[in-house]
Amino acid sequence: QTIDVQFVESTAKLLLLGALVTLKITLVAVSCGVLIGLFVGIAELSNYKLLRFPAKVYVDIIRGTPLLVQIFIIYFALPSILGTRIEPYIAAVVACSINSGAYVAEIFRAGIQSIDRGQFEAGRSLGLTWSQTMSKIVIPQAFRRTIPQLGNEFIAMLKDSSLVSVIGFEELTRKGQLIIAATYRSFEIWTAVAIIYLIMTLTISQFVAYLEKKYNADTRR
Ligand code: ARG
Repeated sequence: QTIDVQFVESTAKLLLLGALVTLKITLVAVSCGVLIGLFVGIAELSNYKLLRFPAKVYVDIIRGTPLLVQIFIIYFALPSILGTRIEPYIAAVVACSINSGAYVAEIFRAGIQSIDRGQFEAGRSLGLTWSQTMSKIVIPQAFRRTIPQLGNEFIAMLKDSSLVSVIGFEELTRKGQLIIAATYRSFEIWTAVAIIYLIMTLTISQFVAYLEKKYNADTRR
């Protein structure tokens, strides 16, 4: 079998565009996830049941159900009772953001809990308020410790974002399906898709390792 240069060229272009979309949706979802996760993670540790309870319910529901089902609920179920339509792009971003938020909340909760209680007490005994102590002393230290887990979350989300292909959102996996539907070249395309995911995840894990070193160099002993 000869190599069809044109096929390779046009396919590579489509897949790389898909990879860019995958990267974008992951970036948006995890960024929103970090924002949600920060609030929910702190709420989980609150002394007030009114904050703690909804935070825990959110985290439990999201982590206890498959992302695939959450995508279906947001894309098919919600619009059907609201009587509206929703773009695949919006549904994909919303589903992935809400999902990521729950995982990030747990990362932050554990990170904050890992900071010695004495740090918190020291802040309070110096006259700082609860929120000053949290924002100036506890959270900066916790954030550094959570860099590796946030990196893992990013990589997990990058791979799990392939699930939004089921609602027709054209990220990398969906692009692969579409090319195969037109060319029947299943083996080449799925191999190429896998390699592109692999290149992205390996690159990101290198980058996270670098960040981890950079931000924790002065605290290692
Ligand atoms: N694979 C799990 C699921 O289907 C987790 C998906 C989301 N992962 C994440 N790190 N946000 O529910």
